[in-house]
Amino acid sequence: MKFPSTLNVFRLNSGAAMPVVGLGLYQMPNNHLTQKAVDNALKNGYRHIDTAAIYHNEEVVGKAMVTSLIPREQVFVTTKLWNSDHGYDHAIKACHASLARLGLDYVDLYLIHWPVQGKRKDTWRALETLLEDGKCKSIGVSNYMAHHLEELLGYCKVPPAVNQIELHPYIFSTRAETIDLCRNAGIIPVAYSPLTKGVKLGDPRLQKIASKYGKSTAQLLIRWALQQGFAAIPKSSVISRIIENINVFDFEISANDMEELNSLDENLVTGWDPAGAL
Ligand SMILES: NC(=O)c1ccc[n+]([C@@H]2O[C@H](COP(=O)([O-])OP(=O)(O)OC[C@H]3O[C@@H](n4cnc5c(N)ncnc54)[C@H](OP(=O)(O)O)[C@@H]3O)[C@@H](O)[C@H]2O)c1
Repeated sequence: MKFPSTLNVFRLNSGAAMPVVGLGLYQMPNNHLTQKAVDNALKNGYRHIDTAAIYHNEEVVGKAMVTSLIPREQVFVTTKLWNSDHGYDHAIKACHASLARLGLDYVDLYLIHWPVQGKRKDTWRALETLLEDGKCKSIGVSNYMAHHLEELLGYCKVPPAVNQIELHPYIFSTRAETIDLCRNAGIIPVAYSPLTKGVKLGDPRLQKIASKYGKSTAQLLIRWALQQGFAAIPKSSVISRIIENINVFDFEISANDMEELNSLDENLVTGWDPAGAL
C-alpha cells in the first residue's frame, strides 16, 4: 500500500480524513515539555494528535495547537472518555469537559476508552448525540474485541469509525478475529503501542529487516502498521524521534518481509488486555 505524501489519510465511515500517523501522548505530563513536543510535531508535519481525559494533558494539546499556528481544521484531534464517565449523562458532560480543557469547539474523534460492562450501550448513545450536536466529527471505540464490536454493531445507529487497540507484529495473529471484523465492518483499526512501548525495538529480527531499507526498527514497525491498513500513533517525547517516527513514507516493506513480521506473534500485551473483558 502506497501513501502519496500529500494524502496520508484514511477515509473514515463518517467521511472525515484521518492522517495515518499520529502522535500518542500517554504518560506525557501536562506541562511545557509536552506542549513543546506537540508544537514541534505539528511543525514537522504531524496532523493527528492522540490524547485522552485520563492522560491529563488535554490543556497543553490545546495550547500547542495555538502556538503551532496550524489552522484548527488541519489538525485531527482524538480524545477519549474515561471509565468513570460511562452512562448517558456522564458521557455528555465528560466530552464537554474535555473540549473545555482542550479549548476546542469540537474534537475530530471521540472514543470510548474501554468497554465498561453494563454501561457502554448508554455511553454509545451519548456519543451519537455528541456527533449529532457537532461536538465530535467522528466517534469510535478503543479496546473493543470482536465480542464487544458484535454487540455494539447490534444496537448502534452510527457504527464506530475506528477501533483503537494494541497492534504490532507481536500480537497481530492473536487479534486476527477483531481485525477481520473491523475490516468487514469498515472500521479502521488504530494501532496503539505500535512500538511495543520500546520493548522489542532491539529485536535482531527487526533490526535485520529494518537495515535492508536503511530505516530504524521504530520506522519499520510503523510502516508495517500502515501496510496492514492500520493507523499508528507512536508516542515519543524526544523531538528527533518524533520526526523519525513520521518519516515512513519513502519506503515499502516487501511482501516477504511483511510475512516474516506477521509471523512474530507471541501474544505480547504491553498494557491492559481487553481479551477477557466481558
Ligand atoms: N487506547 C488505549 O487504551 C491506549 C493504550 C496505550 C496507548 N495508547 C495510545 O497509543 C500511544 C502509543 O503507545 P505507547 O505510548 O503505549 O507506546 P509506543 O508508542 O509503542 O512506544 C513508546 C515508547 O517508545 C519510545 N520511542 C518512541 N519512538 C522511538 C524511536 N524512534 N526510537 C526509540 N524509541 C522510541 C518512547 O520513548 P521516548 O518518549 O523517550 O522517545 C516510549 O518509551 C499512546 O501514547 C497513546 O496515545 C492508547
